[in-house]
Amino acid sequence: MSSTGHAVSPVPALAGRSPALKGRVRVPGDKSVSHRALIFGALTIGETRISGLLEGEDVLNTAKACAALGAQVERVGEGEWRVHGVGVGGLRAPEGVLDFGNAGTGSRLMMGMVAGNPITATFDGDASLRRRPMRRILDPLEKMGVEVLQAAEGGRLPLTLRGPQQLVPITYESPVASAQIKSAVLLAGLGAPGETTVIEKEASRDHTERMLTHFGAEVTVEAYGEHGRKVTLKGRPELKPAPIRVPADPSSAAFPLVAALIVAGSEVVIEGMMTNPLRTGLLITLKEMGADIAFENERVEGGESVADIRVHASTLKGVNVPAERAPSMIDEYPVLAVAAAFATGETRMNGLAELRVKESDRLAAVADGLTQAGVAFRIEGDDLIVEGTGAAPGGGTVATHMDHRIAMSFLVMGLATDKPLKVDDISFIATSFPTFLAQMRGLGAVIESEAGAA
Ligand code: S3P
Repeated sequence: MSSTGHAVSPVPALAGRSPALKGRVRVPGDKSVSHRALIFGALTIGETRISGLLEGEDVLNTAKACAALGAQVERVGEGEWRVHGVGVGGLRAPEGVLDFGNAGTGSRLMMGMVAGNPITATFDGDASLRRRPMRRILDPLEKMGVEVLQAAEGGRLPLTLRGPQQLVPITYESPVASAQIKSAVLLAGLGAPGETTVIEKEASRDHTERMLTHFGAEVTVEAYGEHGRKVTLKGRPELKPAPIRVPADPSSAAFPLVAALIVAGSEVVIEGMMTNPLRTGLLITLKEMGADIAFENERVEGGESVADIRVHASTLKGVNVPAERAPSMIDEYPVLAVAAAFATGETRMNGLAELRVKESDRLAAVADGLTQAGVAFRIEGDDLIVEGTGAAPGGGTVATHMDHRIAMSFLVMGLATDKPLKVDDISFIATSFPTFLAQMRGLGAVIESEAGAA
């Protein structure tokens, strides 16, 4: 095992044509909400109780980092956690390096969290995270007065930050629609006097804004242009502990959902899935493709809308996915490409530049995977066009490039390809969906692997 818990040597797996998938699943807690629950809990004074926390490696690394910064973080049962916070501005300098493993969200949000404290902290991660751009976070933080004492080429990890005695509040127009950038600036803004504002031209997921309000901060959200938002936070609030119930992750639900659509005769219910409209771009797209997806038992849990999602295997047709939908389904393009392969006609996914800087270059990884599966596609600029025929040959080996979602997407594909599809390493699935194999097999999916690794 590595320091972040996954197997050091790759763990391959083989997915084969499966009988109709049947049953109900509750996928683990949402990764975005889980990171934030720990981080905001650490910034309150008192005890925050969290239930349904995702216990994947990415989130566990955030828990360790919060503890290294002085919060008391305790696991009291399955998905049940307690965080005793130190308050805004109360973090202590960590003794060692903060290791975020594979997690962009944990590392970027916690750079913003650290910024409002006059401490020095070093951030690091695995080979995938060390390749990812961090300038997008350092730029606004430097404007607020944070010093970058050391960084690898291009402002990448490992890097060391020092928070100033007094942060300067800013108005920041984000060059990319990214909840991670927005959240890092708002987290830093907690420690600045006055108002910190983030403007985004396209609305990204709003869990940070919701949680800030839940913990008692003053946040205003206004429309900006056609699709954008302007978010303003009043600095130096006293955050008060409040319980958090983490809803099931729509980005994880996407895998059994697409599997049920493409494996003939399937009927699957995904329980308690978060239906926050800034996360449901995939569902909108699949419905446009003709997917039989019904929302049942719609309700609100812990401040987020959730529903049970009933999915029947469906005949899909190709569609055009507009670029402005990308922020609401940014992590779902690999599995949408899988659904598109089983649709009839072209599916055009526009504006995928951000996919190149995820856990892997996902545009390249999806392209390689489709090639391995014998699916026709083309890339035009930042657009991916999958030429669906209603079936896929399979037979190859997909390289996952340390990327959990590439591994899960192509295992799902192999459940419906003519020949089995191999994935070279499933160990990174544990970063976001540690129960993936067991839950998929519980529905009837045929996935062989030497490991109980995921
Ligand atoms: C996340 C935001 C998205 C997403 C990531 C989680 C978050 O990244 O891809 O998996 O929790 O804020 P960007 O904000 O960089 O698009």
